[in-house]
Amino acid sequence: MNLLIFIFTYSISFSSYSAQNIIPPGSIVSASDTNSAWHSPNRTYSFRFITQTQLDPTTTSSSGFYAAILYDGNIPVWVASDSQGVPAPADELATLNLAENGNLFVRNGSTTSSIVWQSNTASIFVESAALEDSGNFVLKNSTNSRIWSTFDHPTDTIVQSQNLSVNQSLRSGLYMFRLLNNGNLTLWWNNTIQYYNSGFNSSANVNFTSPSLTLRPIGALSIIDPSREAATDIVFSSDYAEAGDILRFLSLGSDGNLRIYSSKKGSGTKDVRWSAVSDQCKVFGYCGNNGICSYNETSPVCGCASENFELVDQDDRRKGCRRKVDLNSCRANATMFLLENAMFLTYGREFDPGPNTEAFSIGISACRLNCLTTSGCVASTAVADGTGFCYLKTNDVTDFVSGYLSPALPSTSFVKVCPPALLNPPATSSVGEKKDGWKLKAWVVVVVVVITILILIALEGSLWWWCFRNSPKFGALSSQYALLEYASGAPVQFTYKELQKATKGFKEKLGAGGFGTVYRGVLANRSIVAVKQLEGIEQGEKQFRMEVATISSTHHLNLVRLIGFCSEGRHRLLVYEFMKNGSLDNFLFQGEQQRKVFSWEQRYNIALGTARGITYLHEECRDCIVHCDIKPENILLDDNYSAKVSDFGLAKLVNSKDHRYRTLTSIRGTRGYLAPEWLANLPITSKSDVYSYGMVLLEIVSGKRNFEVSSDTNQKKFSLLAYEEFDKGNAQAIVDKTLPISDTDMEQVIRAIQVSFWCIQEQPSQRPMMSKVVQMLEGISVIEKPPAPKIITEGSTGGTSVNASAISAHSIFASSPPAPSSLSSLQTAGVTPSVSAMDVERSTSSLLIRR
Ligand SMILES: *[C@@H]1O[C@H](CO)[C@@H](O)[C@H](O)[C@H]1NC(C)=O
Ligand SMILES: *[C@@H]1O[C@H](CO)[C@@H](O)[C@H](O)[C@H]1NC(C)=O
Ligand SMILES: *[C@@H]1O[C@H](CO)[C@@H](O)[C@H](O)[C@H]1NC(C)=O
Ligand SMILES: *[C@@H]1O[C@H](CO)[C@@H](O)[C@H](O)[C@H]1NC(C)=O
Ligand SMILES: *[C@@H]1O[C@H](CO)[C@@H](O)[C@H](O)[C@H]1NC(C)=O
Ligand SMILES: *[C@@H]1O[C@H](CO)[C@@H](O)[C@H](O)[C@H]1NC(C)=O
Ligand SMILES: *[C@@H]1O[C@H](CO)[C@@H](O)[C@H](O)[C@H]1NC(C)=O
Ligand SMILES: *[C@@H]1O[C@H](CO)[C@@H](O)[C@H](O)[C@H]1NC(C)=O
Ligand SMILES: *[C@@H]1O[C@H](CO)[C@@H](O)[C@H](O)[C@H]1NC(C)=O
Ligand SMILES: *[C@@H]1O[C@H](CO)[C@@H](O)[C@H](O)[C@H]1NC(C)=O
Ligand SMILES: *[C@@H]1O[C@H](CO)[C@@H](O)[C@H](O)[C@H]1NC(C)=O
Repeated sequence: MNLLIFIFTYSISFSSYSAQNIIPPGSIVSASDTNSAWHSPNRTYSFRFITQTQLDPTTTSSSGFYAAILYDGNIPVWVASDSQGVPAPADELATLNLAENGNLFVRNGSTTSSIVWQSNTASIFVESAALEDSGNFVLKNSTNSRIWSTFDHPTDTIVQSQNLSVNQSLRSGLYMFRLLNNGNLTLWWNNTIQYYNSGFNSSANVNFTSPSLTLRPIGALSIIDPSREAATDIVFSSDYAEAGDILRFLSLGSDGNLRIYSSKKGSGTKDVRWSAVSDQCKVFGYCGNNGICSYNETSPVCGCASENFELVDQDDRRKGCRRKVDLNSCRANATMFLLENAMFLTYGREFDPGPNTEAFSIGISACRLNCLTTSGCVASTAVADGTGFCYLKTNDVTDFVSGYLSPALPSTSFVKVCPPALLNPPATSSVGEKKDGWKLKAWVVVVVVVITILILIALEGSLWWWCFRNSPKFGALSSQYALLEYASGAPVQFTYKELQKATKGFKEKLGAGGFGTVYRGVLANRSIVAVKQLEGIEQGEKQFRMEVATISSTHHLNLVRLIGFCSEGRHRLLVYEFMKNGSLDNFLFQGEQQRKVFSWEQRYNIALGTARGITYLHEECRDCIVHCDIKPENILLDDNYSAKVSDFGLAKLVNSKDHRYRTLTSIRGTRGYLAPEWLANLPITSKSDVYSYGMVLLEIVSGKRNFEVSSDTNQKKFSLLAYEEFDKGNAQAIVDKTLPISDTDMEQVIRAIQVSFWCIQEQPSQRPMMSKVVQMLEGISVIEKPPAPKIITEGSTGGTSVNASAISAHSIFASSPPAPSSLSSLQTAGVTPSVSAMDVERSTSSLLIRR
């Protein structure tokens, strides 16, 4: 009996041995003979040459032969490729050889010794080769040990039962797939951009020691690890556990998507059973550089953003688009082309909002402007997903721009182009088509919109009911609700509790101003903010909200943005964007150290930026605002040291409707920057801000407080002394001594000094408007020699003789924007890009004023 069993097993093992189809050294497969191939014992797999079209049916060129292992006669699962994963093309006379020395190689036939690909296994004692039933092609030595195998050198596919370790990757063109040590699956573009990173249920809390990925024949993608007995399934194919003679394999396509395929033996076809990236347009670079991915009824299609671009290759739309006119050779200044419902894929550094991020929270128009004025920025995306983030596509991660356009995308994008910005004709022509169809569609849209609005009203109603019923839960709900508001551009309403949490109980004090104390805070979306706790607000809730609405609708590059507010009981708080570099006074009047980073050029830009911000407040926004408290403490500096004016609109808030705020004890403005009319009981107008700005400007030049009196200044206020020096022609004496003379533009300095003296004229009517100040600073307007400013002593209201009737508040508020002639002079003279950007803003805002 035992003997019988022995003979039986022996014969089985013998027959399986003989069925191994051993390939001896010296064997050859040639491309010219279609029947020439090495087969696996049960002929499931074969190793042979295939054509370009068999390798990739979507390809357009059809030259070239590739040595490949095929499943079922026509599905390639391994291809001889170079180290970059690019299949190595051979010619029609090519041969696949197992040399006597054990090297496996592909050689072109038409030229001698032209090795296309090789395994580099010469002289390590290869005795034989075999294509196994698993699909693995192995080279073995005399003791039958595997020295080399295709499973150890995967290309873009692993078949069922094949293992992929963390050291291995699948590649296809610029795309790569690899397994991370923590068991996550990741997809990469050009080794730099990770556009997919997914793990299994992270709450399972498993630590792997040396994981590898395998596709179980039953249809599950699993991780096997020495630390765990059983395989951990992470992905199930849609035909999981379905019976039948099915081969499953995992493959990274040339479109950058990772998929599980099933192929029934003999069918010659493969079906997708799982895709890693469900939205193909989210694969980075799918449409090439500057390409825009969108969907037609069935599949993703590639196009260009606008007619300013053209396809690189008409026959292969995935090759991307190029600019018809390079940005560097624009004849006019660049402009931003608007793309509604579009985004630029922002993986990589922009992906994670951290300290060095390219993402920050600003409004749509600022997102556009920021990119326009940032050199190196080629596109920007403002997302409406609740974060309010603006992503600038700059060239520091990669030059590559990958776009996605879909009606479902809640974002707006801009591309920098040379003017004129040209629409895409396909988009416009389709609008004109099929009028009847459009009528029908319009009806559908109307019905859908009405239904949506009704549902929203119902939802809102039930939300309120819910809040009323269950007030402790309101906090969590309201913050989500608020984020929606935030996305729409309206100020977010925070609860006091939320702000208490964001500021860790109002712990980190940033400063204290005339209107209250400012604290640092971090919102739920991880953006850093400055929270201002207002003091002495006697206004009602409704009025407060109205003012908040006005402030938050005031957007300008040189104004600090209001993100939200809180109005609860007696608490009144405002939430602003956080300015990393603090306020101007820190740099002007403090230790030498900080001052070093502060060149004249930077000071000049700050002065100009501040003037532009105030100009916008006075002349360009819908509800004109007099700031009333311009001083270095209220001029904040962002990461690039550009100036942002803060605290605007607050004076009105505190003083209610009355601009004419008399009693000295309750003056909110700051001594030293107050215009004489504050003290002389005269109307406060925008010219009062001009006065304060003049004081600040002089301080920017001198680095000294104007009201400082010391022996250095001959016991005079510095501003008076400065005029004396200026009158003597000794401007150098006014300039901050720490500024290096060599890179200080004295012409600009003298301009700034003259402007400041014009601004601090005692008579409001003699002071220029802020727009004029900007033009004078820029050197567009000629500056006449300013008369001596008469500086009154604060506290003394006597001695002033201003003709009050000549300058009623109303006449100043209603003053029109700069005259047409000055505008045209702006255009003809040299204007910086940011000015041309603001011209756009200006024209829209003046429209608003005219209404
Ligand atoms: C082999 O031939 C192919 C097709 O003609 C060609 O593309 C390839 O460059 C050749 N390789 C070598 C090493 O000569
Ligand atoms: C060939 O062998 C493989 C691996 O042993 C097996 O999965 C497959 O079913 C076999 N095919 C045939 C036709 O016997
Ligand atoms: C075959 O290879 C294995 C593993 O590399 C090695 O241990 C063994 O010594 C080799 N046999 C011969 C005869 O070289
Ligand atoms: C894959 O790994 C498992 C576990 O380490 C091992 O049992 C199996 O033989 C490996 N498969 C191949 C084809 O190497
Ligand atoms: C991966 O590579 C590292 C370092 O080269 C090595 O220590 C480790 O054993 C490798 N892991 C596998 C599974 O081959
Ligand atoms: C891919 O990266 C390399 C260097 O990392 C770069 O030279 C190349 O231009 C990149 N390719 C594309 C298409 O951007
Ligand atoms: C792994 O993937 C999960 C998502 O499935 C992600 O949250 C996590 O951050 C990833 N881990 C790493 C280290 O990338
Ligand atoms: C994740 O795992 C936890 C615990 O293992 C389980 O309770 C939970 O249902 C899982 N979630 C999903 C989405 O599989
Ligand atoms: C995984 O590792 C972390 C950190 O080393 C440890 O805190 C955790 O308990 C480990 N989890 C398991 C399941 O071993
Ligand atoms: C969608 O685009 C694909 C690929 O370009 C094309 O084959 C298909 O015909 C298009 N379908 C429609 C409905 O336009
Ligand atoms: C374009 O910007 C440059 C500065 O970058 C400026 O010199 C030029 O005047 C601007 N041109 C127009 C037409 O605005």
